[in-house]
Amino acid sequence: MTEQQIRSLSEARRAVEDCRRCPLYRNATQAVFGEGPAYASLVFVGEQPGHEEDLAGRPFVGPAGRLFDQILDEVGIDRTAVYVTNAVKHFKFVPRGKRRLHQRPDGDEIRACKFWLDLEVTLVSPKIIVALGATAAKSLLGRASVTIGRLRGAPIAMEGGPLLFVTNHPSYLLRIPDAEGRRRERLKFEADLALVRQTL
Ligand code: URA
Repeated sequence: MTEQQIRSLSEARRAVEDCRRCPLYRNATQAVFGEGPAYASLVFVGEQPGHEEDLAGRPFVGPAGRLFDQILDEVGIDRTAVYVTNAVKHFKFVPRGKRRLHQRPDGDEIRACKFWLDLEVTLVSPKIIVALGATAAKSLLGRASVTIGRLRGAPIAMEGGPLLFVTNHPSYLLRIPDAEGRRRERLKFEADLALVRQTL
């Protein structure tokens, strides 16, 4: 089956395993495709799989995913009812001894992987898409740079119908060193997701 013949998420999930659109497939364990109901009204887009996602073959199952699940639960969004995916489907990292350190995907990698994200958005056809972090926002808006602070808090109408909300990535919350800063940013993240829930 060629990429042009893909008609369903399950066909896309199989086809992405053979993706050679950028070099990231070479070092990753596997491609990590999105997961969730085929006609979810809400799609979340993260950056790329991390270490645990790369091994498990599932998005958002590592530390950021666990925090994300907790916050979804708090704001009353059922993760099993939403489609969760990433802008880039292969883990990009540099080896450091036994560890694999996450590296941000660059513009070429984001653009190469947009084929798969566009396909997921077309097939799922959600009412709302939430970009978690700058990589997802860049991909969905087709921009080289974005400022989350300027884009968050109000939906952006996208071509083809869905509304786009932009917020931070949950791993951003994990990286804030001081407890007060973390608490403040978590409240903002929760407010963004509460607005998404109200809009659904
Ligand atoms: N970070 C992401 O952006 N996506 C994942 O799946 C996991 C961590």
